[in-house]
Amino acid sequence: MEPKMKVGVVGAGTMGAGIAQVAAQAGHEVLLFDARQDAAGAAIRNLSATLEKLVAKGKMDHARAEEALGRISTCAALSGMKDCGLVVEAIVEDLEVKKRVFAELDRCLAADAILASNTSSLAITAIAAACSRPERVIGLHFFNPAPLMPLVEVVPGMVTANGLAAHCAGLVQAWGKVPVTCKDTPGFIVNRVARPFYGESIRIFEEGIAGMAQIDHALKTTGGFRMGPFELMDLIGNDVNFAVTNSVWRAFFHDPRYTPSLTQQRQVESGRLGRKTGHGYYDYGTASAPQEVQLDEQLAQHITERVLAMLINEAVDALFLRVASAEDIDLAMTKGVNYPKGLLAWADERGAAHWLGVLEHLQAEYGEDRYRPSPLLRGTAKVGGRFR
Ligand code: NAI
Repeated sequence: MEPKMKVGVVGAGTMGAGIAQVAAQAGHEVLLFDARQDAAGAAIRNLSATLEKLVAKGKMDHARAEEALGRISTCAALSGMKDCGLVVEAIVEDLEVKKRVFAELDRCLAADAILASNTSSLAITAIAAACSRPERVIGLHFFNPAPLMPLVEVVPGMVTANGLAAHCAGLVQAWGKVPVTCKDTPGFIVNRVARPFYGESIRIFEEGIAGMAQIDHALKTTGGFRMGPFELMDLIGNDVNFAVTNSVWRAFFHDPRYTPSLTQQRQVESGRLGRKTGHGYYDYGTASAPQEVQLDEQLAQHITERVLAMLINEAVDALFLRVASAEDIDLAMTKGVNYPKGLLAWADERGAAHWLGVLEHLQAEYGEDRYRPSPLLRGTAKVGGRFR
């Protein structure tokens, strides 16, 4: 059997360490590099401790853990990755810094090596522009924590070679992941389609329709979401979530559908970032029992329907603009952010006309472009069609 290609991972932070683990567990020799001294070594020591715990809990075979760990080593410079068939970059989210790293990798690696970026918000096309072989550059967007979350968004840039996306999808599938392919557009699938889950929930709170705990309760009970939006923003970190919202909004030339909220901006300015600071939308310092939430069933349904209509509209618009196939849009939301159902399949349950009605009502009431229905939602409602 042909030996598996070597995989390089640049950046040994949260994502790089996780991606290195995934590739090593799939049987690849992995080289890990970080600009910060000893960061790569520290990542391997952390991984060793994590795997030891899994073995102790009986969740992993001792020999398999040792083998995976034995496949990862550090390298002192990017030139050490010259034999890698694939390098995944997971460094700081800064276009100029990423371009410098890609230009250097482009010089060091073989002509047919694949250069992948784990960027969440930068254009793959812009990163590729730093390379003499931009056709070998692609986005491979993992979700946090990479060893546990199944989704990988595979993002060919404008000049990525035909067939490279399918090749990479096959590769990550062999790593036990679920690949979806999407266009190089802001937020890819998940970070674009998920925006209203947070934005519309905050808006409902701002209007005084319900409190945060009530909105969370509504979406968990009548919506079936595993976590409510406010709990989830506290888990992600309000600084991180606000930065993603801002970046998607700017990247769409300030489209009102993505306008960030003042409530979240104040939250960030106050330093109440969520679980990591002990306070966010909720307090995490006290050991007191969570308060029981009182919420009228009608109101819970209204909240869920409003947020869901906005989410469905985003998913339909992503389909309209050919960001990804209907199947991949639904897979992305169930495998990347644990939605209980794919949004397009969900839309079909009550039909496009129902969701169009909800949005048209909101748009008439508020007169805001924020609620404008996607042309595909209108068209599908008109002919009584389905998305899936
Ligand atoms: P992190 O801050 O945990 O790790 C980044 C690492 O890159 C640090 O160890 C840093 O020393 C290193 N680094 C910075 N500049 C470097 C350079 N020029 N050369 C080599 N190493 C360098 O960041 P995290 O969260 O792992 O994010 C990395 C990338 O993954 C970003 O592009 C981010 O947008 C993306 N991403 C992050 C997710 C998350 O939930 N944290 C999810 C999916 C993607």
